[in-house]
Amino acid sequence: MDDLERLADDIRRAETVVALTGAGISAPSGVPTFRGDDGVWDRFDEGQFAYGRFQRDPAGFWADRVDLQQELFGDDPDPNAAHEALAAMGHAGALEAICTQNTDGLHGVAADTVTAEAAESATATTTILELHGNAQRVRCQDCGSRRDSEPILERAAAGDLPPTCDCGGVFKPDVVLFGEQLPGAAIQRARSLARESDVFLAIGSSLRVQPAASLPQLAAETDATVGIVNLDSTPYDSLADVVYREDVTTVLPRLRELVAE
Ligand code: APR
Repeated sequence: MDDLERLADDIRRAETVVALTGAGISAPSGVPTFRGDDGVWDRFDEGQFAYGRFQRDPAGFWADRVDLQQELFGDDPDPNAAHEALAAMGHAGALEAICTQNTDGLHGVAADTVTAEAAESATATTTILELHGNAQRVRCQDCGSRRDSEPILERAAAGDLPPTCDCGGVFKPDVVLFGEQLPGAAIQRARSLARESDVFLAIGSSLRVQPAASLPQLAAETDATVGIVNLDSTPYDSLADVVYREDVTTVLPRLRELVAE
């Protein structure tokens, strides 16, 4: 039995399987990663997108945000085979939750697609926790109402800076900016899922941004089997039971097949 077969066996026998995903799972969909080869933060100054900048200079923040969203999502990305493999594992009852750092919403799209195709056989749904929010939405800082990002980005690109709500409040991308607190409930839920997990998969993340990065350690501390799938090394590789230095679109569909056997 090779490592992947052993991991699939652990998943089949597990009560609770949890995945943490990062930008690497969306890279095959054409969404650039932040670090590693040609990362977004090599081309954009992350300080320009910090919460402090948004508060100090919302107009300048939005002018730069238009460029960043174009860079990240301009190709209108679709879920790839790795997203679909996790969604299928979820619908087969083999994945309790996906805690994602990604703001592209692709796990939700994949889950909806798999539901549509496998509605009658789906035995379970997976909780998707968007720890860093979702860039496909904006939120008014005064009345809290949410809108689709697209028309607001178009207004900002046309010079409406910063874009404001009907109530007069300034919109903010519905994501967690550097220097901003993660929603308490989301990270608490993610931490309890990591502690409850029997198998914890960290997929496509450099595991460098807290508090999400330490979830694999919480899982390992409560005796979960930890698997890391990532092209580059991470600070948590040494605590993993197995590390796959391979493409997510190779490993995850294979893992899904083995789990379904
Ligand atoms: N298969 C497997 N791993 C991949 C692939 C792939 N096809 N493509 C890239 N990777 C790996 C890279 O090796 C890299 O280590 O994905 C990882 C992505 O790391 P980051 O770009 O740092 O992304 P992430 O870990 O999600 O960043 C966390 O940082 O800037 C903030 O808010 C942003 O949510 C983000 C957070």
